[in-house]
Amino acid sequence: MTIRILSIETSCDDTAISIMEAKGGITNASFKVLANSSNSQINVHIPYGGVFPKLAKLEHEKNLPILLEACLKKVKLSKNKKPIDAIMVTHGPGLEMSLWTGIVFAKELSQKWKVPLVPVNHMEGHILSVFGKGRGTFKIEKLKTPILMLLVSGGHTQLVLSNKFMNYEIIGETLDDAVGEAFDKVARMLDLPYPGGPQISKLAGEARNSCERSIAQAGEPSIANFQQKIMCAESARVSRFSCERNPKKISFSLALPRPMIYTKDFNFSFSGLKTAVLYLIRDLGGIKKINQKTKAQIALEFENAAIECLTYKTKKAVEKYNIKTLIVAGGVVANKHLQNEISALGGSASGGKKIKILFPTKELMGDNSIMIGIAGYLNYIKNKKRVPKLDDVKATGNLKL
Ligand code: KG4
Ligand code: ZN
Repeated sequence: MTIRILSIETSCDDTAISIMEAKGGITNASFKVLANSSNSQINVHIPYGGVFPKLAKLEHEKNLPILLEACLKKVKLSKNKKPIDAIMVTHGPGLEMSLWTGIVFAKELSQKWKVPLVPVNHMEGHILSVFGKGRGTFKIEKLKTPILMLLVSGGHTQLVLSNKFMNYEIIGETLDDAVGEAFDKVARMLDLPYPGGPQISKLAGEARNSCERSIAQAGEPSIANFQQKIMCAESARVSRFSCERNPKKISFSLALPRPMIYTKDFNFSFSGLKTAVLYLIRDLGGIKKINQKTKAQIALEFENAAIECLTYKTKKAVEKYNIKTLIVAGGVVANKHLQNEISALGGSASGGKKIKILFPTKELMGDNSIMIGIAGYLNYIKNKKRVPKLDDVKATGNLKL
């Protein structure tokens, strides 16, 4: 039976609503996107250097009715009749103020249209986003188990093991800052605008490319080329440079730590890495004294360090649990270096056995309502359409998987 679902996402600073047709069971569900609208609040929060929760709430409240109207219009539905069979809404984790706006809005619609309301875990949404598309049709693929998930967002850094589809066991997570949070904080230290992740990744990418260009231009025969390549790959870790501000030209190392990389568990820590950047900038005389090239080198070394921690532990987990499928999701998956390093695990991890690696499509890497619709529908089916009472649907900022 095909049902029409409305999905709502307001966990942080993106307001998103979509309408999809969904049918099938857990392992063979398929979806057709009928309408998909969203509004990013980036411009509103830029002056504050990060998400300002009260403003985020006001923006969600303002935009939810506008986006709903746009979606209903696109599908040629009237909000006065019952246009939808079920509503899916994010109830955590996230900013509680933001989450509540979506939940209150969803409850009103659920009461008005007399349709079930399905609360959705935002992180499960990110996991299942790998099946989705922003438009058109898509379906759930059958995946070989065990499945490992590397979840990387502004609030989360987790390695999750799944021996059965939609069952989750967290085997490791960050003990302090999430990796996206570290990207955002380091970007602020480097005087880059919010949201910092994409900015750092752009700057680091430029430094990486110019490094590779210099190798190509050198046009040396293989051995010299190879050595230079290693230097670049190791980037600032092995390089030392002269500090322009100091007349005595004292050398400073740009090397940054890889916290907890060799611990035997699957946990992460990014707060020490962030502090190391802070001290590095201080030792260089403060951000105003640092030129663009050095800034880019710091961004590159930071990106290398953070991604190396993620990739190394992921590889260890793939080997230990004999993983067949690896899912990488959450906003930080937009980072090209992370995608490249994880893709390289495809053949080498798990004793050389091939593993299948899934990333979301570009449009579903950040927060979106399509992933909430997928997770909501699959849980609705899994729970045989049983849903909690409206009064029991609450925002839970630290909701676990
Ligand atoms: O999943 P998401 O959109 O929102 C949360 O649920 O947190 O993730 C947002 C995070 C932010 O910290 C942002 O800076 C980071 O993802 N991010 C990136 C990149 N694009 C977004 N981090 C590193 N490199 C990127 N290209
Ligand atoms: Zn997210």
